[in-house]
Amino acid sequence: MRDVIIACDFQNKSELREFLTNFTTTKPFLKIGMEMFYREGPQLVKELKDEGFKIFLDLKLHDIPNTVNKAMKNIGRLGVDLTNIHAAGGIKMMKAALEGLKETNSNCKLIAVTQLTSIDNQTLREELLINESIDDTVKHYALNTKKAGLDGVVCSPLEAPIIKEMGLISVTPGIRFKNESAHDQARISTPSYAKELGSTYIVVGRAITEATNVLEAYNKCVREFI
Ligand code: C5P
Repeated sequence: MRDVIIACDFQNKSELREFLTNFTTTKPFLKIGMEMFYREGPQLVKELKDEGFKIFLDLKLHDIPNTVNKAMKNIGRLGVDLTNIHAAGGIKMMKAALEGLKETNSNCKLIAVTQLTSIDNQTLREELLINESIDDTVKHYALNTKKAGLDGVVCSPLEAPIIKEMGLISVTPGIRFKNESAHDQARISTPSYAKELGSTYIVVGRAITEATNVLEAYNKCVREFI
């Protein structure tokens, strides 16, 4: 089940299309996020699915259970392979999301974001009035995710071992090749180290999208990780 997911953080469909010309024989697993989705809409997702790409629709839903349930039905109908919600919405919301997805007979895996990597302990305490640490809330939210019956969480590869112990899958960004720039990522791992740590899926953006030879960079990820 391990796979490499390419984070398609492009401005619009024509940039994505240009990027995809690098893949003539393989159909990689693609992550479509909210920037692209809000511009190009569900039509783009349908098109890519029809062309045989696997899709991780990264929209991070967070609302009352009823709204999330209905939104998930629409996501399920798109036939995507992986999607996500915020664990901070609570167990009831996560269960409602899962029920919505299942009603569409979708095989889509549902994962939860625990804490955003942009949140630090100070923000948690001073802005959000949460006195527990980031690490403790991440573990607690992951347990809630399991209680709600979801498949797994988005986390750093470095957290993958404890997530695996909980019986959940981990979808891990922050991937770089050896000796490559970390850009704005604080906690990075190579594809082979992510494999060692037990990640289920790695999400790779710039290491592939900004490579001189895109296909070679993608194939290197696959060789190291799968
Ligand atoms: O270019 P890079 O490989 O750093 O891209 C990583 C991708 O994973 C981006 O789409 C980013 O938004 C996403 N992501 C992340 N950290 C998280 C959650 C998602 O880097 N905690």
